[in-house]
Amino acid sequence: MLKQRHLLGLEGYPAEDIQTIIDTAFGFREVLDRPIKKVPSLQGKTIVNLFYENSTRTRISFELAQKRLSADTVNFSASTSSLKKGESFKDTAQNIEAMKIDAIVMRHPSPGASLHMTKHVDAIVINAGDGTHEHPTQAILDMMSIQEKFGKIKGLKIGIIGDISHSRVALSNIHGLIAMGAEVTLCGPPTLIPPNIEELGVNVSYNVDEVLDWADAVNVLRIQMERMGIGLFPSIREYRNLFGITTERLQNHEKEIVIMHPGPMNRGTEIDSSVADSKNAIILDQVLNGVASRMAILYLLLGGKQLEV
Ligand code: CP
Repeated sequence: MLKQRHLLGLEGYPAEDIQTIIDTAFGFREVLDRPIKKVPSLQGKTIVNLFYENSTRTRISFELAQKRLSADTVNFSASTSSLKKGESFKDTAQNIEAMKIDAIVMRHPSPGASLHMTKHVDAIVINAGDGTHEHPTQAILDMMSIQEKFGKIKGLKIGIIGDISHSRVALSNIHGLIAMGAEVTLCGPPTLIPPNIEELGVNVSYNVDEVLDWADAVNVLRIQMERMGIGLFPSIREYRNLFGITTERLQNHEKEIVIMHPGPMNRGTEIDSSVADSKNAIILDQVLNGVASRMAILYLLLGGKQLEV
């Protein structure tokens, strides 16, 4: 049903397939509101969650999505595997493949790792975040949440604020939102915005107040200290003053603005607690939509033809 066999990234991903996933996800959202939140759609399928990097939301929501669809799931954590004894990526992949699995959900610190995995296995591969490259399932759940809030994606003005350079969430959102007809403005310190990124079809602003005046919704990114190496801005305090989504800053803007964050949040750095917990924030809707979106992605990639919810 989807044109691509794997889901590795949203660069070049067909808009109609993004819409099919979102529409299917809304069907599965209804399942999540039932007293018994389970359908037999993937009974008999086996899925491995292969996480070489930490995760809370993505890992739990993929596992929940698999259980809600009645698939058999196995969790692999790099820290407790034979990788610690020197086993290579290729041997790990081929050993998993030999156990007759249908799909691999994979997070890895290296860009391109999920594409590399497809060269070693016949199983379907879903990228759950590859370094600073892409996080396609996060962008799909973000777009589902935008569609849920506004009834559409096309024509909306979406700001993406913060550490764009180190953000796989930003890159996947850019590709997805542009494909779906939204207007996107990136905002952050010049040191955290890649040069020439406008070539992807986005606007760039270094003034967060301008972006808050312009946007229908802003997706606030985490400052990724672990990927930064040398300091790319002088201090957290200065970052918060210039780019933080603070209560005081939002009070200066007349219109209501929808606040998104992919998590994990650094409260008090890129976003104030009172903003994250405010009625304008849809951060926990994003988390719930993450389960439904991942159910839709697994269902469609593993052969689901029509929704049997
Ligand atoms: N949004 C996201 O990818 O969160 P985790 O790193 O907790 O999975």
